[in-house]
Amino acid sequence: MKMTNPAIPSFLHLIPLLFLLHVMTVAGRSSATRFYHFKVQTMRLTRLCQTNEIVTINGKFPGPAIRAQEDDRVIVTVTNRTPYNTTIHWHGVKQKLSCWYDGPSYITQCPIQSGQSFTYNFTLTQQKGTFFWHAHVSWLRATVYGSLVVYPKAGVPYPFKKPFMENTIILGEYWLKDVVQLQQHVLESGGPPPPADAFTINGQPGPNYNCSSNDVYEIKIVPGKTYLLRLINAGINMESFFTIANHRFTIVEADGEYTKPLTTERVMLVPGQTMNVLVTADQAIGKYSIAMGPYESGKNIKFQNTSAIAYLQYLGALPNTLTLPAKLPDFNDNLAAKNVMDGLRSLNTVDVPKDIEANLFITIGINVNKCNSENPKDKCQGPKNGRLAASMNNISFVEPKVSILEAYYKKLDGYFTTDFPGVPEKFSDFVNGAPNNIPNDTQAANGTRAIVFEYGTKIQLIFQNTGTLTTENHPIHIHGHSFYVIGYGTGNYDQRTAQFNLEDPPYMNTIGVPVGGWAAIRFVADNPGVWFLHCHIDIHQSWGLSTMFIVKNGKKELESLPQPPADLPKC
Ligand code: C2O
Repeated sequence: MKMTNPAIPSFLHLIPLLFLLHVMTVAGRSSATRFYHFKVQTMRLTRLCQTNEIVTINGKFPGPAIRAQEDDRVIVTVTNRTPYNTTIHWHGVKQKLSCWYDGPSYITQCPIQSGQSFTYNFTLTQQKGTFFWHAHVSWLRATVYGSLVVYPKAGVPYPFKKPFMENTIILGEYWLKDVVQLQQHVLESGGPPPPADAFTINGQPGPNYNCSSNDVYEIKIVPGKTYLLRLINAGINMESFFTIANHRFTIVEADGEYTKPLTTERVMLVPGQTMNVLVTADQAIGKYSIAMGPYESGKNIKFQNTSAIAYLQYLGALPNTLTLPAKLPDFNDNLAAKNVMDGLRSLNTVDVPKDIEANLFITIGINVNKCNSENPKDKCQGPKNGRLAASMNNISFVEPKVSILEAYYKKLDGYFTTDFPGVPEKFSDFVNGAPNNIPNDTQAANGTRAIVFEYGTKIQLIFQNTGTLTTENHPIHIHGHSFYVIGYGTGNYDQRTAQFNLEDPPYMNTIGVPVGGWAAIRFVADNPGVWFLHCHIDIHQSWGLSTMFIVKNGKKELESLPQPPADLPKC
């Protein structure tokens, strides 16, 4: 069967019509409510010569697209028909005054248990662009994900020439194993995770993989027309390069915010990032590869190195046209990874917080803990018979057994502390100071510690990569807020030489902190609740590369978190 995945393109034909109907029915009203029912269920899927049970939503893979307009309310009832715990996170949605619906398990809610339901209810306040949703518990998001596309309000144009059509392209990683068990086994072993069995584009690995020459996502394009591609990296443990054979493309939006147009041949997307790009069918009529491949900046890491391929197919191309191959950068091309970021700017001059009230310095990296097991062969498969871990300011986040937001709101004692340190215990050469004495000098402390901010605090965070084991680019994601990426660089952060862009930095929700380097971000803590801050590489998050911050209620109207919903799941 030819998998051209007609679901998305054919639906797109309907969009102008749906919009017209929508505009006619809501004329005079400013926003609408969109209802969805997400049935979390298992489904049999054949990929790479093997049929497996995977967890999906409504029997679709990738899951259903959510489409809405700026300021709309979205109401999604999630019913869990699988044996696994689940939650859904709306990645990039700020959840203004709706922290209860953010979704990270054991942070803002207990998971939805087998047979249970929970209704998410939030508003896309002043947000438009490309977002996505994904499970936020164990490694379920390997198959439980889909797009969340928010259009500008009726009559509000894009700040670029209207594209002829648009497509969503979700990059993923696919395992032939039960991912919930896989995560458990990896964590028990103390060692590294196995590479994914395949990279995928909209769920399809493409012709480079066994038995996959028909499992290819295909975009049909009309010569001369311009298309908007909404790129989403829903990958689990890998950062990725993306490119299209013979075609340059222009970035116009990143993480749901417009950017100054930036034309490039390729881009590196970290898990958790989205990007809108314009591509014009201005090449000879034919068939061109769209490719996704690995970016791995760490040393001695095993990863999948076969690229996922999709096709850009010109209408009018002969059926057996040779496909023009796409050239991806080498997996360790740090410069290629950095180039696009260097050119990324907000569309307009922005209002970056100036008089910083909280200035934090947070180290991010991998640890090797000592083996405490009687059974080191099975349990301590990390370097030098240690156990792999990861940390922020050398504290490995320990997942609680309750919802921290609930514990905080109901003033339940004993589940977390509020003493996450704003600086590391000692400053040293973080990048080149890898100790020889692994695992004795690379031990992390454990803790479930939060940082507490008053409502409205102007925050600067400096993330510093550490080379404890290997330096590596880490995609740091913040819930409930976007932030200005005012600067980054390689080596140790140095206040005297660091250069900041306070004019037009990009406004993002996930930043790939450069390998062996640092990144500086600023934002205002103006959303009360408990917010997760973590590496969006799932294995790193599982190892503890995360923390959380609490934003207290403000004093004025609309500065307090409302009561929890009645159907909030119990642990
Ligand atoms: Cu996309 Cu906390 O996640």
